[in-house]
Amino acid sequence: MNLCVIGTGYVGLVTGAVFSDLGYTVYCADTDGSKIDMLNCGKMPIYEPGLEEVVERNTQDGRLFFSTDIGDCISRSEIVFIAVGTPPGADGYADLGAVKAVAKTVAQNLNSYKVVVNKSTVPVGTADIVREIIIENRVDPQVDFDVVSNPEFLREGNAITDTLKPDRIVIGASCQSAAMKLVELYAPLERPMVVTDVRSAEVIKYASNSFLATKISFINAIANICELAGADVHKVAKGIGLDARIGTAFLNAGLGWGGSCFGKDTACFIATAEKLGYDFALLKSVVDINSQQPAFFVKKINSVLRGLEGKKIAVLGLAFKPNTDDLRDGKSIEIMAQLSALGAEIRAYDPIAMDNARKAYPDVDYCVDPYQAAANADAIVIVTEWNEFKFLDFDRLKKTMRAPVIFDGRNMFDPDRIRSKGFEYHCVGRAAKDRE
Ligand SMILES: NC(=O)c1ccc[n+]([C@@H]2O[C@H](COP(=O)([O-])OP(=O)(O)OC[C@H]3O[C@@H](n4cnc5c(N)ncnc54)[C@H](O)[C@@H]3O)[C@@H](O)[C@H]2O)c1
Repeated sequence: MNLCVIGTGYVGLVTGAVFSDLGYTVYCADTDGSKIDMLNCGKMPIYEPGLEEVVERNTQDGRLFFSTDIGDCISRSEIVFIAVGTPPGADGYADLGAVKAVAKTVAQNLNSYKVVVNKSTVPVGTADIVREIIIENRVDPQVDFDVVSNPEFLREGNAITDTLKPDRIVIGASCQSAAMKLVELYAPLERPMVVTDVRSAEVIKYASNSFLATKISFINAIANICELAGADVHKVAKGIGLDARIGTAFLNAGLGWGGSCFGKDTACFIATAEKLGYDFALLKSVVDINSQQPAFFVKKINSVLRGLEGKKIAVLGLAFKPNTDDLRDGKSIEIMAQLSALGAEIRAYDPIAMDNARKAYPDVDYCVDPYQAAANADAIVIVTEWNEFKFLDFDRLKKTMRAPVIFDGRNMFDPDRIRSKGFEYHCVGRAAKDRE
């Protein structure tokens, strides 16, 4: 079976690579010629553990192709995945410009029956929009097609594993034959599938991300209460998470969520609900809590250091989470902006995201390693919980810093361990010792 994946970003590229690894012939297409050139030279345009090997193996075996000729890729394929970006529009609603453009290109290259699959995260009703665009623009009205919703749940940094072993595969189709095409396609993965109607599948994606965002904001609100009450959110999270109805995942207090999905998806879900006539007050509060979290932390830093004017701060971690080079909506940018606004001098380090950071924020002083960033610093601020930071040489850090102070925005460390190494240690929601 020939497949086409349009959009070779974090989702499209990983999806295409994994399908080719399952034995399908996959044509990956993108309007960004520089990405396609890189891929055709064996270079990865994004950092994703394990991706390069899968791409290399399948391009060499002649099952995975990259092209800017989107029409040609569509006409060669039976199943067409739309995996382009759906950034937030001005009103919070997803900007469907790229999805609509692809739908038109599909219509213009509909040379045989195809299943068109929305893998991009799109608001409820988008499959109908795609269907209408194809009907209006198809070259031959006799050629049939179906539009299926197949939302993606992969996590950057874990994308290959998530695509090979998803918790579930959601297939929203308006007819059984189209649904069965996707069931057959995914069958080799041997994972649970939820086959449903199109609109339910579209809502499942937003409801999932909104629920996860809610868990994070919930535990962050609890963390703020713990700080005021002299309790330890780490212990509280364990105490509530061991209840099987709640679960321990996504109960790590910190600076809040970032990344390309939660912010835009919660905004879009709120806007969608509003359009439908429902005030999603719960989700609005979840977003508010998340947006306030960095300011709480910066206030703490400012207070502990008795002002930030002229203070040197080493910021460790720039990517929105570990194992990715993605900075989109990352907390690092907000934190650095707020620290700078209070007069701090920032030196930053990230194991992987430095190139992207340099392009996006050229004014920051970037360092080659954590020790250079920490030289003469008044404090270290940890923004992303990279594994590498777990193995920092604290004696070396202490020697190079002006003052041994760590603000851990991700609660990476056991406070007693860090304090036993002679550091003043502050984290999120574990106030008992912070206040000593
Ligand atoms: N990144 C994630 O972790 C993740 C997870 C689940 C779902 N999603 C959703 O998947 C979709 C894609 O996300 P992403 O992170 O891969 O985005 P991305 O920005 O990394 O990639 C999107 C790609 O689409 C290409 N593109 C844009 N317009 C195009 C067009 N008209 N024709 C062909 N290509 C075009 C861009 O050049 C880019 O390479 C979004 O809707 C996103 O919400 C993302």
